[in-house]
Amino acid sequence: MEPELETRRRLQEAGQQHLLRFLGELSAGGKEALLGELRLLAPGEFREHCRRAEEAYVRDSSCPQRLDDKMRPVPPEFLGSIRKSDPEDLISWEEEGFRLISQNKVAVLLLAGGQGTRLGVTYPKGMYSVGLPSGKTLYQIQAERILRLQKLAGEKHCRKCTVPWYIMTSEFTLSPTQKFFEEHNFFGVDRSDVVMFEQRMLPAVGFDGKAILERKDKLAMAPDGNGGLYRALTDNHILEDMETRGISYIHVYCVDNILVKMADPVFVGFCVSKGADCGAKVVEKAYPAEPVGLVCQVDGVYQVVEYSEISPDTAERRNHDGSLTYTTGNICNHFFTLDFLKTVAGSLEPRLGYHVAIKKVPFVDEQGNLVKPVQPNGIKLEKFVFDVFQFSRNFVAFEVVREEEFSPLKNADTAEKDTPTTARRALLWQHYRWALRAGAKFTDANGRVIAGNSGVPELVDPPAVCEISPLISYFGEGLHVHLNNKDISSPFILDSHRL
Ligand code: UTP
Repeated sequence: MEPELETRRRLQEAGQQHLLRFLGELSAGGKEALLGELRLLAPGEFREHCRRAEEAYVRDSSCPQRLDDKMRPVPPEFLGSIRKSDPEDLISWEEEGFRLISQNKVAVLLLAGGQGTRLGVTYPKGMYSVGLPSGKTLYQIQAERILRLQKLAGEKHCRKCTVPWYIMTSEFTLSPTQKFFEEHNFFGVDRSDVVMFEQRMLPAVGFDGKAILERKDKLAMAPDGNGGLYRALTDNHILEDMETRGISYIHVYCVDNILVKMADPVFVGFCVSKGADCGAKVVEKAYPAEPVGLVCQVDGVYQVVEYSEISPDTAERRNHDGSLTYTTGNICNHFFTLDFLKTVAGSLEPRLGYHVAIKKVPFVDEQGNLVKPVQPNGIKLEKFVFDVFQFSRNFVAFEVVREEEFSPLKNADTAEKDTPTTARRALLWQHYRWALRAGAKFTDANGRVIAGNSGVPELVDPPAVCEISPLISYFGEGLHVHLNNKDISSPFILDSHRL
């Protein structure tokens, strides 16, 4: 059968023949592009995908399933904590982490395939600069943290060490990210230690179960969620690459957390010391009703429970000592052993369910006009990276301090939370605290001493502006020599080329 007729027949079978309604108007190139794209979709799978999207949308629009009665918090023996664990344990976990890093057994894996629709920029989020005095982007900050960590581990164990950087991208983010890294000479990281790969895309579907045309000659597609990681690892032979490099442990993190402590030796050392195959960093809920996902057990199996899945009573529940029962907020910051990833990617991945994301998807209307909807109109199906917790045989969680480790960039500055301003403030407050701890004394433009260390970092700028390059300090270490008893006039940048 002719390719066009065959595609028409297959679309009819899938109930998606509307996708060809502008075919007659298209140029030869446009026609080929659309038919080519449609041919890639296996008819059975495509039909199933659209049906699943519609069904999931209807299910999610009705009453959410409550999990209150099935939930248990992470037992204390599997929960480490920066604030509550014995300081000697913290030191020994950190030493263990550095030892493993120095043996080149630890890699970092960045999830950077998202579209960043809430932030609303047209380029990948990692290329965003939140307005630091240095103008550094998220990618540059992360690259410099890797460089510093390699140096620290190398110095501690007298050897050259490498932390490979795996970066999952999508159709939207791959080529601009590659170009950006090239233009900036990989920010000093050895390019052979940066491995970019691409996740799969899925068609966006309208509320009526029909796939959406983004242009007359193009389907609206979206990345398959950060849980698309596991298929992407297989598609791109990433686990083989890790094996070849001798990697045993992987720290997975999101692009948007400006405070991310990549390959954190304390976290890695904690997880490995506990024999964990899978671990999650968590932060304490800021307040009982904070709408964050909670890491906990449901029917004895670990998962992230969404705020909508528990009652207000459960969110507020307290232990005998007055502390909150459910307080371990997920920050998308995970530890995996290579063996665990092999098992998931090799056989368990198909068991991961899809989640519904309702988004504004630009489309062409019946008349062929391009419409940018003001209200959400499309369903995107996504897998989530943390849904593999259910497969863990030895799961641990590690609670860190929010002000030190978590400030995500999600929204534009018109929002109140998780914006460029809150991310910039979080980093500058942290560096200001580090500088004070290292003995710095700040003065203003008139030479007056600036004092104080209070204020809500989200709401106000620190009293003095001080940005410390990650090339100088990964997490506040080594600053005494540069800052103790120094009079520093704000704003101040401590960078390697200024020393
Ligand atoms: P978010 O859930 O915040 O999504 O991603 P997003 O796409 O960045 O932003 P919005 O929702 O469109 O505004 C959390 C992390 O998961 C990655 C993102 O890049 C970010 O690091 N991600 C998300 C992927 O790698 N792939 C995806 O398909 C989705």
